[in-house]
Amino acid sequence: MTLLAFIFFAYLIGSIPFALISSWIFKLPDPRTYGSKNPGATNVLRSGKKVAAVLTLIGDAGKGWLAIVLAYSFAPSWNMGDDAVAAAALAVFLGHVFPIFLHFHGGKGVATAVGVLLGLNPILGFLAIATWIAVAVISRYSSLSALIAATLAPVYAYFFFGFALNTLAVLLMACMLIWRHQANITNLITGKESRIGQKKPPA
Ligand code: G3P
Repeated sequence: MTLLAFIFFAYLIGSIPFALISSWIFKLPDPRTYGSKNPGATNVLRSGKKVAAVLTLIGDAGKGWLAIVLAYSFAPSWNMGDDAVAAAALAVFLGHVFPIFLHFHGGKGVATAVGVLLGLNPILGFLAIATWIAVAVISRYSSLSALIAATLAPVYAYFFFGFALNTLAVLLMACMLIWRHQANITNLITGKESRIGQKKPPA
């Protein structure tokens, strides 16, 4: 497989909408029709079916992880290294956010970014997850947890990779992730953001 074909493949697997697939498996409504209308694990959780949310999380994180693991294994055959891995990270993340299968209207990228971080370095991924969990336990806001984890992820990445393409890819993903949370940021400021497991936003 050529590098270009692989980048397209990473984009395609990023485009697989696990929120819709798990909702279809469990006969739930389309997550784009309720709650935040985001096709992501947090919103699928608002359906009340925890296992569907977990499946969404595993699928969306799994595709991010898979793209990176495959990039690391193919990179030597292209005489490349971190440059190919960083490109794969951005391709799979962009696939989730702008999926070809959903007319380019995808999710916010949290689970896919976690999968990418786990693929880049498991400890880096676990640090981001630990940050998310710590904020979630305190605040009960999924979005705030993701925003803080995304803000810290490039700092963590710097400690693992230094000024490198992997760190730049993490920084770009974090910027896009924060940009995708504009509505959540407004809701957090105005007190209208739903807490984890809460089906309806505060009145
Ligand atoms: O995973 C996305 C999360 O950070 C926010 O989701 O549905 O509350 O907009 P949601």
